[in-house]
Amino acid sequence: MSAPRIPTELVAPVFNPATFGVRGAAHEIFTRLRRDYPLAIAEVPGYDPHWIVTRYEDIREITRQDHLFHSADRSKTLASQLAEQLMRQYTGGLPTIFKTLVHMDDPEHAEHRAVTQQHFYPQAIAKYEAPVRETARRYIEAFLAKGQNADFATELAFPYPAEVVLSLIGVPQKDHQKMLDLTHWLFTYADPDLCRPGANLTDPAEIIKTWDIVYSEFKNYYEPIIADRQKCPREDLASVIANGKVGGCPMNERNMVSYLVIASTAGHDTTSATTATGMWVLAENPDLLRRLKAEPALIPGFVEETIRWTSPVQQFVRSATQDYVLRGQQIRKGDLLYLSYISGNRDEEVFKDPFTFDPTRSPNRHIGFGYGPHICLGQHLARLEMRVLWEELLPRLEAVEMAGEGQMAQSEFVCGPKSVPIRYRLA
Ligand code: HEM
Repeated sequence: MSAPRIPTELVAPVFNPATFGVRGAAHEIFTRLRRDYPLAIAEVPGYDPHWIVTRYEDIREITRQDHLFHSADRSKTLASQLAEQLMRQYTGGLPTIFKTLVHMDDPEHAEHRAVTQQHFYPQAIAKYEAPVRETARRYIEAFLAKGQNADFATELAFPYPAEVVLSLIGVPQKDHQKMLDLTHWLFTYADPDLCRPGANLTDPAEIIKTWDIVYSEFKNYYEPIIADRQKCPREDLASVIANGKVGGCPMNERNMVSYLVIASTAGHDTTSATTATGMWVLAENPDLLRRLKAEPALIPGFVEETIRWTSPVQQFVRSATQDYVLRGQQIRKGDLLYLSYISGNRDEEVFKDPFTFDPTRSPNRHIGFGYGPHICLGQHLARLEMRVLWEELLPRLEAVEMAGEGQMAQSEFVCGPKSVPIRYRLA
């Protein structure tokens, strides 16, 4: 039996960053795909064929078997044939400029993850609660000082998580804005408001140029920090990475820089997207705000549900290392599999009323942090900073509503709101 094909006109928007700039548009497509093509091939012009994996259980089956579904052999995110070809020319045959944890397979992945793993365990993260709370309070005061009309996304949800993780890394505050900008250039390269200034969004080769510029900027920034921490280690993550050993030897420089890059990008943009979405949900649901204020014990459940609801990491791609049968379909060695985390997190077979936002959802076994050996390293930090923020902010607010149209960023990879204008009344 030949593999099912998804009609191109149905699936092509999934390959277009602009689709994700329209709130709910991607969900409409994925809901149809889950029903009619839960596991089928997309043949979109300009791209190699991809299996589009929409069901929660299939995504888990793939991501827990890292040896069968590799992260390092091809681009880890959706990439056109031209982008892949340019990338290989540029890097001398490698599928990506960066070599972060997400771009590795075992044994390399496990060895590199072990360098920082213990610093991200719940017990290790718990000791940051007091300083993170201080940071949250400072951002809340600054936000409230702006008056009762303000953009929650740009004024609070963007800079607060950046400050938390960048301080942990050891990046001084004066450089946080630079890190925020580089993150946007990388993840929202196709969004006219957030992309690298001057980027030509109509040129398909531009994305490689942007990645090159971003990598060079990060490299130039982090090399002196790595050298400094090797000479004089401090109590920060940069010191752990700069002095980390793999197989008894120091990590190579590309891997060290990439390690710092993933922490200084994925370590906040994801949390920002989730936090901004949380406020958008609250502004549209006054009852929910009242309920959370009356029962703060619901806040951890609220945080968990914002992660399921947002799924800011919308997709990752794996490639099959051997033939494999999934959901009765024959996957062939070398096939590409597009894992739709946003789809898995709205899977009707797993989540009751998946399109209802429910802070009491239990269990809430979402895959917003991924699953298996690559499961998010920073998940406990992300939960802590979001819980603390809502614990501090909600008692200050009496009511909140949207003060204009919210706007989603245009990105097919990490995505969330770029603007959440709110109007609020203080408690
Ligand atoms: C990996 C999501 C916050 C660092 C991942 C993956 C997802 C994810 C889906 C899996 C990648 C894969 O399947 O290959 C999120 C979400 C966050 C968040 C939704 C916030 C709401 C953070 C934070 C950090 C972080 C705060 C802090 C450093 C990482 C790293 C990896 C990762 C280093 C790679 C792990 C590996 O490949 O072994 N994240 N993340 N993330 N995340 Fe997060």
